[in-house]
Amino acid sequence: MVRRPLARLRSLAGGWDGDPAWAHVYSWSVDHPAYGALGWRLAVGSDLRLLLDVADGTGRLPEGSRVLDVPCGSGVALRGLRPGQGVDYQAVDIAPAMLERTRRTAERLGVADQVTGVVADVAALPYDDGAFDRVVSFTGLHCFPDPRTAFAEMARVLAPGGELVGSAVLTDSGLRFEPLRRLGRLSGLLGPLCSSDDVRRWAAADGVVDLEVTTSGAIGYFRGRRAS
Ligand SMILES: C[S@@+](CC[C@H](N)C(=O)[O-])C[C@H]1O[C@@H](n2cnc3c(N)ncnc32)[C@H](O)[C@@H]1O
Repeated sequence: MVRRPLARLRSLAGGWDGDPAWAHVYSWSVDHPAYGALGWRLAVGSDLRLLLDVADGTGRLPEGSRVLDVPCGSGVALRGLRPGQGVDYQAVDIAPAMLERTRRTAERLGVADQVTGVVADVAALPYDDGAFDRVVSFTGLHCFPDPRTAFAEMARVLAPGGELVGSAVLTDSGLRFEPLRRLGRLSGLLGPLCSSDDVRRWAAADGVVDLEVTTSGAIGYFRGRRAS
C-alpha cells in the first residue's frame, strides 16, 4: 500500500539518468536571474546571488588553471567560465544524460573547447591527489548517497592552496524546509543529506582550512581552501 504512492512519486520526480523535468527549471532559473531570484526566494528561501558569485569566481582564474565541477548536472557552474580563458575544466557527473546537458551548455556559452565531460562517481574520482586549483560542487552533497566520502574525494583532488566551493541543502537549514527535505528523500532525488557541522568536521579532518558556511534559506554555501 505504501509502495505504490512512493513509486509514483519517484517516477514523477524522475531519476538523474532520465533528465528530470525539474533540472530544466533549475538551470533556467540560474540563467535568468531577474526572474530566477524570485523563484529561489519562494521555493527554497535562498539568495540566488550567492550561487552566481561563486560561479563567477571561476572567471577570475588565470590561464592554465584546472577546475573540477562535480556534479556538473546541467552545467550551471559553467556560466563563470570565459571564452578563451585557457582553463582545463573537468565536468564530472554520474549520469550521462546530465553530462549531455553540460555539453550543450558549454556549446551555448562558447567554452566547449575548455570543458571535458567525464562520467564518474564522486566517491571514486578518477584524478590524482592535488590535481585541481578549484573544485566546484553546486547542489551536490545533498544528492550523493555518501556525502562524507564525496567530501573526502573533493578535498583529496584539491591542490595545496586550492579552493573548494559549493552549495547543498543542509539538514540544519531551518525547520520550515523539513517538508522539502523529506519529499526530496522520498522521491529519491535527495540522499541522506548532511549538516553544516558535518561539513565543518569533514573539512577539518580532510585538510580544508578557512572554511565558511553561509546559510541562505534551505541552502548552505561553503568555501574553504586546501592547507598549503
Ligand atoms: C541537483 S543536481 C546538481 C547538478 C549541478 N551542480 C547543478 O547545479 O546543476 C545533482 C547531480 O548529482 C549527480 N549525482 C548524483 N549522484 C552522483 C554521484 N555519486 N557521483 C556523481 N554525480 C552524482 C546527478 O546525476 C545530478 O546531475
